[in-house]
Amino acid sequence: MAKIIDGKKIAAEIRGELKSSVSAIKEKTGVVPGIAVLLIGDNPASKVYVSMKEKACKELGIYSEKHLIDKTVTTEELIKKIEELNNSSKIHGVLVQLPLPDHVCEKDVLEAVSVDKDVDCFHPYNVGRMLIGNPAFLPCTPAGVQELLVRSGISPEGKNVVIIGRSNIVGKPLFSILCQKAKNANATVSMCHSRTKNLHEIASQADILIAAIGRPEFVKAGMVKPGAVVIDVGVNRVEDTSREKGYRLTGDVDFEAVKEKASAITPVPGGVGPMTIAMLMKNTVAACRRQLGMKEND
Ligand code: GUN
Repeated sequence: MAKIIDGKKIAAEIRGELKSSVSAIKEKTGVVPGIAVLLIGDNPASKVYVSMKEKACKELGIYSEKHLIDKTVTTEELIKKIEELNNSSKIHGVLVQLPLPDHVCEKDVLEAVSVDKDVDCFHPYNVGRMLIGNPAFLPCTPAGVQELLVRSGISPEGKNVVIIGRSNIVGKPLFSILCQKAKNANATVSMCHSRTKNLHEIASQADILIAAIGRPEFVKAGMVKPGAVVIDVGVNRVEDTSREKGYRLTGDVDFEAVKEKASAITPVPGGVGPMTIAMLMKNTVAACRRQLGMKEND
């Protein structure tokens, strides 16, 4: 049976380290790192994610502002709000929770976030820097996956990594991070998606298989090489009338079957999810340091 990678525990360790950094910044400069989170509309999953981000800020002593914005907002109005936050000295990170309502232009909104405050690493300038291996920030979920592997003693160096899913938030940046000629990377990375032929065959060659496709229990045991490491980025709500909420969360991996075949596996919840939040906190602290002209270990 696979080792269960405890993302909750590893994320708590990281938050503990960051709490000390936040205190040190306050002591040295009198400045409190701050983040503004914009939540547009009433997407139930987004509301949950945003409240988890707020909770983490509180725990670490990071100042946070939540801006609840009506779903009828125009692109121009949203950009104006972002520009206000870009200019606020209390705010070092600006995060626009996705997805946005259909009528809002996501591209224009993400490009409006100051590149120095782009703690999500969604601005094309920061995406480009990441691609050439000169990052200011790394996007939170992909960085969380890399950190989870490394802190679990699983090096991607020289491994066959297969990523299933090509989203801008997870699949594409994760590809770019893990194939870099850099420490904790240097993997041979393949990407599969909905149009991939022989997806099962490619997946079954992975030493590290990463599922980020957004389909409940898509990865079955037959797609996994014995002894592979399986990282499940999926968070899917599936109907479950036996639960009070009427749904349960499930990943992109058939956990019960795959755990019998893999050497290590992340659960959902409690795997990658908490790491995403920890990496957001890390980026916020890093953004604050940079804006104050402090060095990495000041
Ligand atoms: N929606 C789903 N994941 C994310 C994320 O990492 N950042 C933001 N801003 N929105 C998301």
